[in-house]
Amino acid sequence: MTTDTAAPISPQQQVLEDELVATVVASFDGTPDPRLKQVMQSLTRHLHAFIRDVRLTAAEWNKAIEFLTAVGHITDDRRQEFVLLSDVLGASMQTIAVNNQAHKGATDATVFGPFFVDDAPEIPLGGDIAGGATGQPCWIEGTVTDTDGNPVAGARIEVWECDEDGFYDVQYTDDRMAARAHLFSDEHGAYRFWGLTPVPYPIPHDGPVGKMLEAVGRSPVRASHLHFMVTAENLRTLVTHIFVDGDPQIEVGDSVFGVKNSLIKEFAQQAPGTPTPDGGDLGDHTWARARFDIVLAPAGI
Ligand code: BEZ
Ligand code: FE
Repeated sequence: MTTDTAAPISPQQQVLEDELVATVVASFDGTPDPRLKQVMQSLTRHLHAFIRDVRLTAAEWNKAIEFLTAVGHITDDRRQEFVLLSDVLGASMQTIAVNNQAHKGATDATVFGPFFVDDAPEIPLGGDIAGGATGQPCWIEGTVTDTDGNPVAGARIEVWECDEDGFYDVQYTDDRMAARAHLFSDEHGAYRFWGLTPVPYPIPHDGPVGKMLEAVGRSPVRASHLHFMVTAENLRTLVTHIFVDGDPQIEVGDSVFGVKNSLIKEFAQQAPGTPTPDGGDLGDHTWARARFDIVLAPAGI
C-alpha cells in the first residue's frame, strides 16, 4: 500500500525495491535462534514497507538519525527517553496488550512508566504512602482475588503516584522518597491505604520526545492516575493504574494511551468533617475515597 501523495513507481523500480527487501530478509536466513530470525525478518519487511510507503527522503532519513541520536544522548540511568518514545508511539501499550490478553475478568494492565523504584517502604494496612508529599488525602481500598474469585492473601501491592504539583519524588533533586510504598493484602485478600487524589501531569517533555510531540501538536499530559504493581505466587504480575472518573484529560487523551475504561474509578469527594474509614477526622479538610478490586490471572497466561 502506498500513501495518496506517493509518486507513481515504475515496474522496474518496484522490482528493484522488492529485490532489496528479499535480499535483506534472506541475509537473516542463517540466524541460529529461530525467534531472533523471525523478529529480524519481520522487522526488515515492516521497516522497508514504511520507507517505501512514505517514500522517505534522504533529508528525512537524516532527521530520523539525528532524532534517535538525541534520544540516546539524553538517556542515562535516571532517564529512559527510548521508553518514553515507545510510550508516546503506543508501542508500550501494544506490547502490554499482546502480553496480557483478557482472561476471565482479570484486571487490565497498563503502561509501567519510568517512575517506579523498587525499594519503596512497606506500610501496614491502612497506612499512608504520602511520606510528606502534598495533595488531597485519598482512601483507597479493595480486594485481590484470582479469576475464580478466591481471595489472594499476602499479595504484594506496590503503589506510586505524583504529588499535587504533578511531580514524582524522583523528579526532585533532594533524594526524597514520597508518595510510594508497598503493602500486603490480608488473609481475606483485602487491602487499604491512604494515598493522594491523583492529578494530571506531563510526561518529561524537555527532550527530543517532547519536541516531537510539540511538532505534531500533541499534549504531553497524562490523565490523573495512581500506579499499582501487584505480585503473588502462581499468578500473573499485574502492572496497572487507576484513573479518576470525570477527569477531563481522559476525554482530551492520555499522552501514552494508557487509559482503559475498566480502570476508570470513582474517586468520591468527601466533605470536611466526614468520618474517615479508619475512624479518624481530617478536620477542615476534604478527602476522597476510591475502591479498586484487583483480579489476577494465572501465571503463564
Ligand atoms: C507515568 O505514568 O508515570 C508515565 C508513563 C509513561 C511515560 C511517562 C510517565
Ligand atoms: Fe504516572
